[in-house]
Amino acid sequence: MSKKDYHNSGGLIALLGSIIFVFAFFFYVVYINKGVDLAENVTEPAKPGEVQFDLASVKEPWVESAEVVTAGAKIFKANCAVCHGAKGDLVGGIPNARNLVEGQWTQGSGMINHFKVLQNGITGTQMVSFKATLKPFERWALVQFIDSITKNKPANEKPEDVAAFATTAD
Ligand code: HEC
Repeated sequence: MSKKDYHNSGGLIALLGSIIFVFAFFFYVVYINKGVDLAENVTEPAKPGEVQFDLASVKEPWVESAEVVTAGAKIFKANCAVCHGAKGDLVGGIPNARNLVEGQWTQGSGMINHFKVLQNGITGTQMVSFKATLKPFERWALVQFIDSITKNKPANEKPEDVAAFATTAD
């Protein structure tokens, strides 16, 4: 063995280099790198002085309200957009779901009929019942959202009829 091989300086440099690299990388990951934002925080923190809207506390979620529509849009994104598209127009959805904006309804137009669809689903289709998965106030928020986007509303659905139905529906 030559003297050169005995003092394997190349190996030593490589070893020290790796050790330094590992420490530097550790330092980078722990102290410098801020992490990757996976956008998992869907709820925005309340700004100071801002009152958070609490859908659950709305006594009559079927009564037209911009805040309920906004809450409904969020519930729609989480539960319905995968099939109906984020805006309900099938863009990004599945082709055999209904375009809720065009509103070629098979179960009837209007808030009462839409609520019934969410209660019962449409038998034999991918449109399942959401009775077990969404609370009535969440389904009413969805119905208000659909009512806000559709071009096909009945001319004569009275708010008092919706309210009367709502007290019997769960
Ligand atoms: C797995 C896919 C899927 C999901 C998720 C889904 N839907 Fe549907 N939806 C469908 C399909 C498919 C139809 C059309 C069924 C048919 O052929 O009549 C439909 C139909 C409808 C209709 C039309 C009723 C009518 O009168 O024609 C409404 C309203 C509706 N969905 C609302 C919703 C809402 C609100 C959600 C979220 C809570 C939702 N859907 C989630 C697939 C889905």
